[in-house]
Amino acid sequence: MFKDIEHLIRLAVVIAILLAVFVLLRAAVVPKSFGEYGHYRGTAIAEIAARTPAFAGHDVCEACHTDVVDQKRLGRHANVPCEACHGAQGKHADDPSSVKPQLPDTAVICARCHEANSAKPKGFPQVVSADHSGGLACNTCHKPHRPKIEDEKETKAANTKPAGGKK
Ligand code: HEC
Ligand code: HEC
Ligand code: HEC
Ligand code: HEC
Repeated sequence: MFKDIEHLIRLAVVIAILLAVFVLLRAAVVPKSFGEYGHYRGTAIAEIAARTPAFAGHDVCEACHTDVVDQKRLGRHANVPCEACHGAQGKHADDPSSVKPQLPDTAVICARCHEANSAKPKGFPQVVSADHSGGLACNTCHKPHRPKIEDEKETKAANTKPAGGKK
């Protein structure tokens, strides 16, 4: 019955060797802290936490730039965070005197949100910028922090109206 067993033993030896090589290689290659908490390197948590954040968050910006906040809250950009337009400014927020942010290019950033696209909700303000702006920079006409153009006239009119009038 076990007459031709020899070739099976050879195969078993080859498999055993491959298995041993796999176990040894795995032990050499997989980092020590792997699996400490889950299916990842345990020390990765500390490494990532040690990075300096690129974004500061709008609360931080607002603490210093109160004049911008006062403008922004009057228009529909009130809830658009600073760094959505200005990009990550964590370094500037940490050290404003030596890191001065570049001002955003309105030809690029405004269209990023406002270029007309049928996938956007109908109510979202959108324009075909080439037709709409006639090639002018968006901030020739719009103030980025308070984009509605009639705002100034409206505020003046509201201020001169007798009390109790329409807001
Ligand atoms: C600790 C206070 C402080 C914080 C926090 C701060 N800034 Fe500033 N920021 C300044 C100062 C000071 C200037 C320089 C003003 C100047 O030179 O006229 C400045 C200038 C700027 C400028 C204008 C650069 C220019 O060319 O005129 C921009 C844009 C700006 N900050 C954006 C931001 C944004 C976005 C944040 C939040 C991520 C932020 N700042 C957080 C103090 C701060
Ligand atoms: C919708 C985009 C947008 C948002 C949101 C925005 N900014 Fe700006 N900001 C701009 C643009 C564009 C300019 C450049 C204006 C120019 O060149 O005339 C600018 C200019 C500035 C300047 C230079 C001085 C000035 O008033 O022109 C400062 C400071 C500044 N922004 C800070 C802030 C801070 C702080 C916030 C958040 C509270 C913020 N911005 C939110 C687009 C934005
Ligand atoms: C990060 C996205 C974002 C960017 C960038 C952005 N906007 Fe807006 N914009 C908004 C949102 C959100 C609203 C408000 C939509 C709403 O209320 O439904 C808005 C509203 C507006 C309105 C309508 C104002 C009104 O009162 O009817 C104008 C005009 C406008 N933006 C112009 C600009 C210009 C000019 C720039 C470039 C300086 C710009 N936006 C950049 C998100 C953006
Ligand atoms: C020549 C002046 C001018 C320029 C340049 C200009 N706009 Fe306008 N824009 C207007 C006027 C006027 C309105 C209508 C009044 C308002 O809503 O503020 C308007 C309205 C808008 C609206 C609101 C549309 C709606 O459906 O409520 C958006 C968004 C807008 N512009 C974005 C832009 C963008 C983005 C640029 C740059 C590519 C730009 N504008 C350049 C004059 C201009």
